[in-house]
Amino acid sequence: MAEQRKIRVAVVFGGRSSEHEISCVTAGGVISVIDTDRYEVLPIGITREGGWVLTSSDSEQLAITEGRLPTVEGDGTRLALPFDESAELLIVEPDAVPRRLGQVDVVLPLLHGPFGEDGTIQGLLEMMGARYAGAGVFASAASMDKVFMKAILAGHGIRTGAYVAVTDREWRRERKRVLDDIAELGGTLFVKPARAGSSVGISKVGDAADTDAVIAAIEAAREHDPKVIAEVAVSGREIECGVLESADGGAPDVSLPAEIHVAEGFEFYDFTAKYLSTSSLTIPARLPAEAVEEIRRLAGRTFEAVGCEGLARVDFFYGDDGEIYVNEINTMPGFTPSSAFPQMWAATGVDYPNLVDRIIQTALEREPGLR
Ligand SMILES: Nc1ncnc2c1ncn2[C@@H]1O[C@H](COP(=O)(O)OP(=O)(O)O)[C@@H](O)[C@H]1O
Ligand SMILES: [Mg+2]
Repeated sequence: MAEQRKIRVAVVFGGRSSEHEISCVTAGGVISVIDTDRYEVLPIGITREGGWVLTSSDSEQLAITEGRLPTVEGDGTRLALPFDESAELLIVEPDAVPRRLGQVDVVLPLLHGPFGEDGTIQGLLEMMGARYAGAGVFASAASMDKVFMKAILAGHGIRTGAYVAVTDREWRRERKRVLDDIAELGGTLFVKPARAGSSVGISKVGDAADTDAVIAAIEAAREHDPKVIAEVAVSGREIECGVLESADGGAPDVSLPAEIHVAEGFEFYDFTAKYLSTSSLTIPARLPAEAVEEIRRLAGRTFEAVGCEGLARVDFFYGDDGEIYVNEINTMPGFTPSSAFPQMWAATGVDYPNLVDRIIQTALEREPGLR
């Protein structure tokens, strides 16, 4: 009898967003623990320009070495995706007949940020009829956009901080009104691109009424996204929870919470503090039992409010006022072995290889099409 074919997993990483390198590091970690007795990995890198290339599965090439971050580089070949139900991939090389890579059983879109975590690749995969891990089109898009995310959570009675959204049109045509609205928020602000991650483009502004500082912060955020959000700073502790779609159709599973300790010398959890510093986690977070219970409940509710699937990390502020605020939901959280998401699950009894396996299995079980 012919040996059963291994399950073919396309791991897609890199991408066009500013989180390209972080996605590469995540892919390196995930690829290193995929059980090669059961799965065959197709490592697919997306260059910064958006080209798809078949890359090496040598996970060491995808690690942070000596403070240098990995990237996907083009190699002259291109991957082509057929828009039919074959879920087959082709390699196109200059002056050569396209080579068939065969059928893909499941795709792991390990992409962060726009053109990856925001519903775009999910839409592409839906069009191809491919199975893929993680949130679908709407949940990805809604979670990526901090303004829509807050509106959905508010609709579910889940507390987030006060904010003002600034669209491109408002910034060009209604700047005075926008600045007045922002000044009215009062106090310290965080000004962010509406759809980014890894803290890129975020500034802390000491005084909402300091118009010059607010304008500079908005312009800095607009380098990354024409849509911006200005939020009131919450004074408190940063807490996160991992969420996984239930394996048996029940309510989502929520990990123990982690507390983030931002390394000394940083004003907030910015890019350098996140990836290139001594910032650390305490798992489980040392909080009153009622707060832990409430945070875990809200993590599950947030996951369901946006219609998330597969996995997510929900980030909170445990305010000095004792209130719990959702900061954001990440539908493809950082996923290296040392990232918060796997660490929280390890502390909850699901180690890194099992976590990766569970996410692949959840994706394989989901039928393509409307759910
Ligand atoms: N409203 C806020 N109050 C206090 N700190 C904030 C606020 N918003 C953001 N921060 C700080 O900035 C960091 C990055 O903000 P976040 O909204 O999580 O952006 P990203 O999607 O890039 O991770 C947070 O982890 C936190 O340290
Ligand atoms: Mg964040």
